[in-house]
Amino acid sequence: MKFGHFDDKNREYVITNPQTPWPWINYLGNEDFFSLISNTAGGYTFYKDAKFRRLTRYRYNNVPMDSGGKYFYIKDNDTVWSPGWKPCKTKLDKYECRHGMNYTNILGEKNGVTASVLYFVPLKTWAEIQKLTLTNNTKEIKKLKVFSFVEWCLWNAASDMENFQRNFSTGEVEIEGSVIYHKTEYKERRDHYAYYSVNVPVSGYDTDRESFFGLYNGFDEPQVVADGKSKNTEAHGWSPIASHYIEVELKPGESKDFVFVLGYVENKEDEKWESKNIINKKKAKDTISRFNTVEKVDAALADLRKYWDNLLSIYSVNSGDDKLDRMVNIWNQYQCMITFCFSRSASFFESGIGRGMGFRDSNQDLTGFVHQIPERARERIIDIASTQFPDGGCYHQYQPLTKRGNNDIGGGFNDDPLWLILGTVSYIKETGDFGILEEMVPFDNDISVSRTLFDHLTVSFDHVINNLGPHGLPLIGRADWNDCLNLNCFSNDPNESFQTTENKTEGSKAESVMIAGLFVVYGRDYVELCKRLGKNDEAARAQKHVDTMVDVIKKHGWDGSWFLRAYDYYGKKIGSDENEEAKIFIESNGWCTMAGIGKEEGMCTKALDSVKERLDSKYGIVLNNPAFTKYYIEYGEISSYPAGYKENAGVFCHNNPWIMIGETVVGNGNRAWEYYKKICPSYLEEISELHKTEPYVYAQMVAGKDAFKPGEAKNSWLTGTASWNFYAVTQYMLGVRPDYDGLLIDPCIPTDMKGFTITRKFRGATYNIEVANPNGTNKGVLEVIVDGKPNNSNLLPVFGDGKEHKVKVVLG
Ligand code: GLC
Ligand code: GLC
Repeated sequence: MKFGHFDDKNREYVITNPQTPWPWINYLGNEDFFSLISNTAGGYTFYKDAKFRRLTRYRYNNVPMDSGGKYFYIKDNDTVWSPGWKPCKTKLDKYECRHGMNYTNILGEKNGVTASVLYFVPLKTWAEIQKLTLTNNTKEIKKLKVFSFVEWCLWNAASDMENFQRNFSTGEVEIEGSVIYHKTEYKERRDHYAYYSVNVPVSGYDTDRESFFGLYNGFDEPQVVADGKSKNTEAHGWSPIASHYIEVELKPGESKDFVFVLGYVENKEDEKWESKNIINKKKAKDTISRFNTVEKVDAALADLRKYWDNLLSIYSVNSGDDKLDRMVNIWNQYQCMITFCFSRSASFFESGIGRGMGFRDSNQDLTGFVHQIPERARERIIDIASTQFPDGGCYHQYQPLTKRGNNDIGGGFNDDPLWLILGTVSYIKETGDFGILEEMVPFDNDISVSRTLFDHLTVSFDHVINNLGPHGLPLIGRADWNDCLNLNCFSNDPNESFQTTENKTEGSKAESVMIAGLFVVYGRDYVELCKRLGKNDEAARAQKHVDTMVDVIKKHGWDGSWFLRAYDYYGKKIGSDENEEAKIFIESNGWCTMAGIGKEEGMCTKALDSVKERLDSKYGIVLNNPAFTKYYIEYGEISSYPAGYKENAGVFCHNNPWIMIGETVVGNGNRAWEYYKKICPSYLEEISELHKTEPYVYAQMVAGKDAFKPGEAKNSWLTGTASWNFYAVTQYMLGVRPDYDGLLIDPCIPTDMKGFTITRKFRGATYNIEVANPNGTNKGVLEVIVDGKPNNSNLLPVFGDGKEHKVKVVLG
């Protein structure tokens, strides 16, 4: 069952039934100022950091789901309704929510009145714009009462939800004309306030929540709206809100627009006040005046659209398959931008107060985004590397506002350092900017111990070889990519966090075959980088370690039909046929086949066949099989999940592309694409009632074959799944891959795919690439013609001439 449809021309998903199986959301803003907005106008706003600078309040996991947001109440005689259906839930005559690239338009119609609300954050602006358009489609005059509503959060979203003995006494507002200012804590340590304005005179306002709703009413029945009259309240403590009251008269056929601005301001210490206790409103007024007419708002939206035209013009495919094209050209790239901005902090599954930016997550996210805004990727790489320790280890997470490592979680995840090589190399291959390697980057944010970024890569590489276990495989530390394989945790205390507890690490024999495979892949990248820099001794030293690791994996990481997953604390095998449960895991088989380990000996095909046989399911490849059915103290969190969920045999979509890429290494295009389509959301639109989450973005996890309800997705939006799928499909399956000296053309496609075209902008030139597959092959480039002349390899040169180049590729 579908709840809407794709509108590819406008790059929108159009929801036509408000009762989606889960709130289907969108993100506004892409730099400093952000909002999350659901298809019924639920959600919240923050500046830079969803924990420390939360502007509006949100209650997660509420009853009913998704309560609280940017609401409009329209009172038309005795009927009260909202354009997004919620919160009033008055039955609408028409409903439509269009989620587009960083904007959302929600339209409702009731009794001949249409209300359309456009929500977006203009580029370079610390404010969300809401343009409300009311239209009278009847032959009578309509007299409407309109009430806006937002609820202020007291900035720190964590203490906002817990420290009531203080919070209920601190709230402060100021009201001037049609602008409501939220200034809680401004007179002491804060240099910021928020505001909510409308560009017409108001007939009233409210800023005290209890007065607006009535203490025992929900969002659906504010007392003020029922009464049809504001109370003009000024909040003192308790819970400050902002609501404007506007009386609107519409002639038959008439339309009126209202522009609301929800913004944020920072003032310097000596510019905080206009007079005693009266805040300096200059910056707020400046922003409000930038958007005080419909023309200005429309122009800002046009700029935003242009911005996205440009970003999405860098890589686009035309394959004749709409589902594939809309993912690659629009939604997958969009999701990559969102994960780049938010890492794992703020979604409808991540509260925005728990986690900052992940070291490994951000490096992986980069790969899906670096072609769009390489300058921001560059900055991100430096920020991430700055949280590394001198021995190559690193903070697992950092806070975006402070850019400091997060002490609560600390370090010790032994895969982390290697991802920095991935991030850096992806950036250089895209841009050719080797200069980044010379940047001086601190360790642990201490500038006095800065070294070049290249040195950071060296210590990343060395961190693995300095931490090898008894078999010569990398020690796992707290965990590798799989946060839930906690081999040194040994926790029997429910009050301990699996993420931060390690009760036994000294003397541990726990080794990771996944890190070993990762080390081979990124170790080779490191070697190549050294060679290009003329550091031949270092290249030779590193190559030796990589070669040794390959041998060690073949010897101690192979189980006969697939790659082992790990060795536990005691040195016993994990992911082996010998085990009773979880005989095989996806991660090590992904990385070792991506690395081509034992390809000649047939290990790769054997491992991939085992994955197909044991891990594949209708809805994707599960993480392990058989699922754990009891708790293994020596394995940790992974065995705490019910069978089929999350890291315990769920379809963890993030790592499915590793197998897809592995399949391309052995040239099995049919299988790679079969796996791709199983988890790609646009192919799942028809089963939305089962899949539950948005059909336009990937979810982290889909319930696996052992689950109660296989195929049900959770945790959409903020997942490395976005970048890995984009990386796999664009670089290894469609096969247009940036490399140091040019664009490599190396598709691996299904035999029945006839061909496709790709437009790729790369280092200052545009490549119009036409790939033909006349002989129905999977892989292998027969001929490449560039601008009419044969090219003697499948590497397209760097032109950098600002021109378009015609490339014809024949597979065979
Ligand atoms: C989550 C984490 C990621 C981890 C993965 C597997 O997605 O953000 O860091 O690798 O789970 O546990
Ligand atoms: C839990 C999740 C995992 C996530 C980790 C960190 O262990 O299962 O996916 O990476 O928490 O928050």
